[in-house]
Amino acid sequence: MKTKVRTITELNKENVYEEAAMTLTNGGLVAFPTETVYGIGANALAPEVVKKIYVAKGRPSDNPLIVHIGHSEDVVKYVKKVPDKARLLMQAFWPGPLTMIFEKNASVPDLITGGLNTVAIRVPSHPVAIGIIRASGLPIAAPSANLSGKPSPTSAKHVIEDLKGRVELIIDGGDATIGLESTVLDMTQAVPMILRPGGVTKAMIEGVIGEVTFDPYLLNIGAKEVPRAPGMKYRHYAPKGQVKLYRGKGTAVIDHINQEIKAAVKEGLKAGVIASTEDVSRYNCEIVLDIGGKNKPDQVAANLFKSLREMDDLEVDVIFTRAFSEESIGTATMNRLLKAAGNRQIEIEDNKVLE
Ligand code: TXA
Ligand code: MG
Repeated sequence: MKTKVRTITELNKENVYEEAAMTLTNGGLVAFPTETVYGIGANALAPEVVKKIYVAKGRPSDNPLIVHIGHSEDVVKYVKKVPDKARLLMQAFWPGPLTMIFEKNASVPDLITGGLNTVAIRVPSHPVAIGIIRASGLPIAAPSANLSGKPSPTSAKHVIEDLKGRVELIIDGGDATIGLESTVLDMTQAVPMILRPGGVTKAMIEGVIGEVTFDPYLLNIGAKEVPRAPGMKYRHYAPKGQVKLYRGKGTAVIDHINQEIKAAVKEGLKAGVIASTEDVSRYNCEIVLDIGGKNKPDQVAANLFKSLREMDDLEVDVIFTRAFSEESIGTATMNRLLKAAGNRQIEIEDNKVLE
């Protein structure tokens, strides 16, 4: 398949939205930017088109898709009821990086929901995403626009690497600003449950509707818990290189990582470090990528997937990193990083490995 790439400008944007909308209406796949990550969109109401998403991504078909809508009110077309708490959250956070799970009605094809009786819905805030969805007049199923298992794409370059030849159209609208996927919140439970942490944090949600919980799986990754969001169980966000994640205090943990780098290089491996700005100069390694300031969780989140992909471009075999702050979106950053590290983190205290 020949893939067209269109770069959005102030002058051409209306035409590009129209072209994307036509492609979607005609049963094609269109990759486009959202404020979280790039998505690969298809008409959510046409099962034979939705099937193509699973093929293009190499995604297991039991993993349900998020339906993206252009206007909050449209939610009633696809769900049995909108709980009061969901209404409050819609007012507070839509459009934006919050996906809510509702009981689905009969208009939503089973293929979208992986056979579940619930459906995930969000209104993205990125002007290009909104422009395309509204121009199409359709609900758009859109998973992240990466090949299944790879880090989600935060730029059109990443999408082109993964999906060239697999989709009809890629829209380049610049870098995704948040850089991590939306928060997934299950509204079908009396106390809503966060199934995937993201840009809308637990504290932000609780500020509007009171108590919510985390899926127990998120608090105890690596244990036998099964995640409520089917997609969370897959190996994800993983670069080709092995990610080694360390947790511990300043000098001890950095000394330890420097020893490990030395040992890896001695073995003939190519080593790389993902570091906060403040730590960059403390590592003895040829490749050190600056992910952003220690007290700037938004920067770290926005650069995580990009850094992991850059390590692949540099053909790094072992990627070393310290845990980052879990303030605000940091919870989501650490969730993704832990998964990239195969759910394993190495605890360092007084230069001893605790684990
Ligand atoms: O930020 C985002 O949400 C991006 C952009 C493109 O909007 N999309 C995205 O989609 O991350 P995807 O398909 O990569 O992730 C959707 C997640 C998966 O973990 C999936 O299992 C979960 O949402 N999910 C979808 N429907 C669900 C449902 N009915 N019940 C439980 N989990 C669901
Ligand atoms: Mg994804």
